[in-house]
Amino acid sequence: MLTEELKERIATDLERARRRTEALTAAVDDADLVAQHSPLMSPLVWDLAHVGNQEELWLLRDVGGRDPILPPAVDQLYDAFQHPRADRPTLPLLDPVQSRRYVRDVRGRVLDLLDTVPLTGRPLLENGFAFGMIVQHEQQHDETMLATHQLRRGDCVLAAPPPPAAARPASSLPADVLVPAGAFTMGTSTEVWALDNERPAHHVQVGAYRIDTFPVSNGDYLGFIDAGGYDDERWWTPAGWNHRCTAGLFAPLFWSRDGDQWVRRRFGNVEQVPLDEPVVHVSWYEADAYARWAGKRLPTEAEWEKAARFDPVSGRSRRYPWGDDDPTAELANLGQRHLQPAPLGAYPLGASAVGGQQMMGDVWEWTSSDFRGYPGFRAWPYREYSEVFFGADYKTLRGGSFATDAAACRGTFRNWDYPVRRQIFAGFRCASDVAPGQG
Ligand SMILES: [Fe+2]
Repeated sequence: MLTEELKERIATDLERARRRTEALTAAVDDADLVAQHSPLMSPLVWDLAHVGNQEELWLLRDVGGRDPILPPAVDQLYDAFQHPRADRPTLPLLDPVQSRRYVRDVRGRVLDLLDTVPLTGRPLLENGFAFGMIVQHEQQHDETMLATHQLRRGDCVLAAPPPPAAARPASSLPADVLVPAGAFTMGTSTEVWALDNERPAHHVQVGAYRIDTFPVSNGDYLGFIDAGGYDDERWWTPAGWNHRCTAGLFAPLFWSRDGDQWVRRRFGNVEQVPLDEPVVHVSWYEADAYARWAGKRLPTEAEWEKAARFDPVSGRSRRYPWGDDDPTAELANLGQRHLQPAPLGAYPLGASAVGGQQMMGDVWEWTSSDFRGYPGFRAWPYREYSEVFFGADYKTLRGGSFATDAAACRGTFRNWDYPVRRQIFAGFRCASDVAPGQG
């Protein structure tokens, strides 16, 4: 991409992220902005100033060599590693007026810098990587802030049009697809804004397996509930069963009974659970138990990525399920355009080569894999982005959700979280083994 074109893309992406941040923080009053809606989350005003602070640290100070805008003690307040989310409301944070002024000030200076900075000469500048990292960082916080909105009690303050209907009934397609045995290229060494944990590209041998055409729907999941799945220890791992008992799990987060039907709370609205939408707000433990009940299992991360990216005809891995073109509104439910997952079958044009649908957008999908570095992993540009999270504590999630922006989602993009987490926009699809000779 030419430098001018690249700079235009950066400016557009920065602007789109900021519009989203402003919409999410303008939707509530100042008292609400500084309140903590859940110990799992920061007050929204912390996210706001933290976004500006990271932008200042990486772009103005590191790339631009500028002096700090605010007293140095401020940096420390917005360092995610120094203060767990639960403690953030007790910090002497910038108030909403100061926070807004600060992020606006930083952004103005960043756009000036972008005009003059050469996008070459340092690894951090090649292909505008530092700017791309900051775009993704703000979009990731926009998704976190949307999760805070979902946890917040009170009236609905956000609005968006409903997602598209299914092009044809999901039941008219096979429930799952066969992915033949063989090697494929996982991860990337060429995607210019890919983060360290997506790199490098490497070959992975995968045995034959079947994977669900669609994410598991609310209707499917109700089958598990109605069959007593939450009360049957057989379907759960020991850690999962222990958690189900101590946390008192009985349905996805935000679901409740209303007479003989299930309702859910979604951004302040209480509505009937739509049966044809992907289930969302389930923990890894619940996803894993459902899969066992269904006679299946969660896909490994390699299986998920192969089903999403591998093209058996060309033998190469695509950037996205549908090909190499960037996402559009016809291909995937991304970017908070709709504030819920779309019904199964709503994005036939976004299907992968092997026939997986809605792998990008709608809901993050839990995989069975722990979060680890790929062979040849190198932490860059800082260890705290992902390396410090590697290990058995976290499970990986793939594919992005309706809350994820296209700039922060690719076929190779990896997310991770604790297996107990439910406030994220996560669902899953199942996989199963193929008997020898059938793959
Ligand atoms: Fe952050």
